[in-house]
Amino acid sequence: MEFFVSTAAPSRQRTDCAIVGVYDKGDLSETAKELDRYIGGRLSRLVKRGDLRGKAGDTLLLADIEGAACERLLVVGLGARHEFRRKQYRKALASALGALEKTGARNAVSYLGLEAVPDADAYSLARAAAEVVGNAQYRIPDHKTTNKRSKPSLTRFGVAVAARADVAKAERGLRHGRGIVAGMSLMRDLANQPANVCTPTYLSNAAKALAREYRSIRVRVLNEAECRRLKMGSFLSVTAGSDEPARLIVLEYYGAARKDKPTVLVGKGVTFDTGGISLKPPANMDEMKFDMSGAASVLGTFKAVAELDLPVNLVGVVPACENMPSGRATKPGDIIRSMSGQTIEVLNTDAEGRLILCDAITYARRFNPDVVIDIATLTGACVIALGNHLTGLFSNDDELAAALKAAGERADDRAWPMPIGEEYAEQLKSNFADIANVAGREGGAITAACFLGKFTEGLRWAHLDIAGTAYVGGTQKKGSTGRPVPLLVEYLLNK
Ligand code: BES
Ligand code: MN
Ligand code: ZN
Repeated sequence: MEFFVSTAAPSRQRTDCAIVGVYDKGDLSETAKELDRYIGGRLSRLVKRGDLRGKAGDTLLLADIEGAACERLLVVGLGARHEFRRKQYRKALASALGALEKTGARNAVSYLGLEAVPDADAYSLARAAAEVVGNAQYRIPDHKTTNKRSKPSLTRFGVAVAARADVAKAERGLRHGRGIVAGMSLMRDLANQPANVCTPTYLSNAAKALAREYRSIRVRVLNEAECRRLKMGSFLSVTAGSDEPARLIVLEYYGAARKDKPTVLVGKGVTFDTGGISLKPPANMDEMKFDMSGAASVLGTFKAVAELDLPVNLVGVVPACENMPSGRATKPGDIIRSMSGQTIEVLNTDAEGRLILCDAITYARRFNPDVVIDIATLTGACVIALGNHLTGLFSNDDELAAALKAAGERADDRAWPMPIGEEYAEQLKSNFADIANVAGREGGAITAACFLGKFTEGLRWAHLDIAGTAYVGGTQKKGSTGRPVPLLVEYLLNK
């Protein structure tokens, strides 16, 4: 997909399809009005007849335009004028792309960016456009032999800006949007693959492919023997029941001065979570192929950062394994020794994410990090607390938490602050070891974060629980969302 910025008036825009907006009750936008004059008042007639109401998400395609330079005109409903914000803009553009896909248009220009959007500027509108278009063109890795998904026909997409002065800003927005989409698409490709394809080895090969694609990325993959030498007893206890070899994937990107401390991203890479001996119930268990979404978001963020050549130092640590039951699997009550030296009583083998993350966090210390951010589909309890809209944000550093929350807002990929604290951490007491890996049902997302907190002393650390936001479950729309790549890239853009 090629993106460009245009300053041409809508009537003079040579394109397969011009996209313009109409607010509710048939209130034509300025661009729609201008075009209307050139095409003989067709739009105002449609408004009068009640065929063009401007309800948010409605679309109307005029495929035979005469009088203006465009081949087609796609009118999109924008909803109430006083409620039009970046969110509504994204939705309107997404509806427009849905309608555009049913046509043969190979290129299009959006005029929606000329609307007044109180919480946006030329940069953020162009960036949002590139993200919406890029994500609309995403296709799930196809394992179908019949009814294959159609390839998108659109190859060029323009965003119109009002003034010459906005061109550079919009171009920068398009560039950032493209980078973010590239990262999200990589994340989605990895997470959407079934667990018999996307194994720990597959993830490590994907990381190596990134290092081949970008000279700025270096990758090292540690096998189980090397993890044993590092005394990662907690990580290895999770993979004990699996025949698929575990991997610790380490990525490095140095875009800033060598002396600048890196941001370290730690991503949960459980390529399938059966629960282990504490076996999960069958309903929706297939969705546990998405339990490596944290890992995939780390790889996706590296892709975006390398694509955009960001001036930051970044390290990724991805513990990747399966959580399986078997004769060799870790059993409830087993006591293991983490790389930090702390012993853990595994009361529930389904609380495995924290067991692989704690060793990865301990390993991350060798990079002398500025901050450590772990990303994990960690708890069902977080989905109960926040639903599928917001990522759970936990941190031992208020400044870091505020920066991540603000990044999520700017990127339209929001996270919400959740508490941690001694009261909760106390629930992790064990009669037999230093700590237990679970602490009862109450406050499950928080006690999980507090477990990780036992391994982050002296670090500026944040934990993103993406169990509710990384993928859409159910049947129809099931698939990876690409979140929280936009939040993470935005955080790094601001560093
Ligand atoms: N991968 C799951 C968390 C999860 C659940 C992600 C639902 C997405 C949707 C995690 O490993 C897990 O099983 N957590 C347990 C923890 C419990 C045993 C303390 C959970 O949330 O039930
Ligand atoms: Mn689990
Ligand atoms: Zn899990």
